[in-house]
Amino acid sequence: MTQPPTRPTTLTVLGSTNMDLVAYVAKAPAPGETVAGHSFRTVPGGKGANQAIAAARAGAAVTMIGAVGTDEFGPRLRSALEHSGVDTDFLRTAEGASGTAHIVVDDDGCNSIVVIPGANGTVTGLTPGDETVIAGAYALLLQLELPLPAVTAAARAARRHGVRTILTPAPAGAMPPELLEVTDLLVPNEHEAAALTGLHNPLLAARALLDHVPEVVVTLGAAGSAYVTRAAPDPVFVPAVPAEPVVDTTAAGDTFVGALAVALGEGKPMRDAMRWAAAASALSVQRHGASTSMPCRQEIDAL
Ligand code: ADP
Ligand code: NA
Repeated sequence: MTQPPTRPTTLTVLGSTNMDLVAYVAKAPAPGETVAGHSFRTVPGGKGANQAIAAARAGAAVTMIGAVGTDEFGPRLRSALEHSGVDTDFLRTAEGASGTAHIVVDDDGCNSIVVIPGANGTVTGLTPGDETVIAGAYALLLQLELPLPAVTAAARAARRHGVRTILTPAPAGAMPPELLEVTDLLVPNEHEAAALTGLHNPLLAARALLDHVPEVVVTLGAAGSAYVTRAAPDPVFVPAVPAEPVVDTTAAGDTFVGALAVALGEGKPMRDAMRWAAAASALSVQRHGASTSMPCRQEIDAL
């Protein structure tokens, strides 16, 4: 008797690891201005690692593909992933500096960020092992903080193996058609949606993106998120879960995407997955830092 094929139970993330160097200030400095801040901390981050940790905390088995450096940050970035249960066997160690993100968070919880790629810049393609990991997952999460050839190669590998690709088009900018071609679900925030389309109405932007990808979830900050697909272009809105106080929105989007992927992998319909992701990201904005602010499954379910 033949066994039915077993459903993959792991999620793969190909993306960046950065040490977030975070300065908390009343008001961010204008160009040329120097201001005194309240405090400083270093927190493991990077959009790839943040999504991997969010998904692992939300209950998934997650494998991370990327690179850390040989500097003092490398071991801490790796162990932060491992501490949250992320498999780092495919996370390389590259000679030189780890990626860093220089973040200023003001008293309103708004942030501005400079990212220096460091080791992330050495991930220019896939190894045979990477491809095997991608092939065995139920979804592949991608962002744009690694060199584009690696991101595109990973998305193509996923497509070859019938694995769903979920792309966060961040940092915002022009989007190569060859990557969109192999993207199943695009999850921009409203700024990224505008940057991709030139349209400042996020719903019109999301609809315009359906020319390139079959499904789009656009996140709208405190206003929630909206979903459109080619089959049903009328948007499905899901409100945000109220969060008070908002202390740090650094990784709201990454938490949202990580939790969304987990819920979809468990077979939840998109609307339910968006609700669950809204709960996860509402918890994260009430805490400081990126990866350290991500909630665990029990907390998300409770909310
Ligand atoms: P990004 O972090 O990429 O800018 P958003 O700001 O759109 O992404 O936030 C992603 C999700 O996080 C939103 O869809 C929402 O569910 C949640 N979120 C963001 N800000 C808040 C907030 N102030 N209160 C409650 N939820 C929030
Ligand atoms: Na946060």
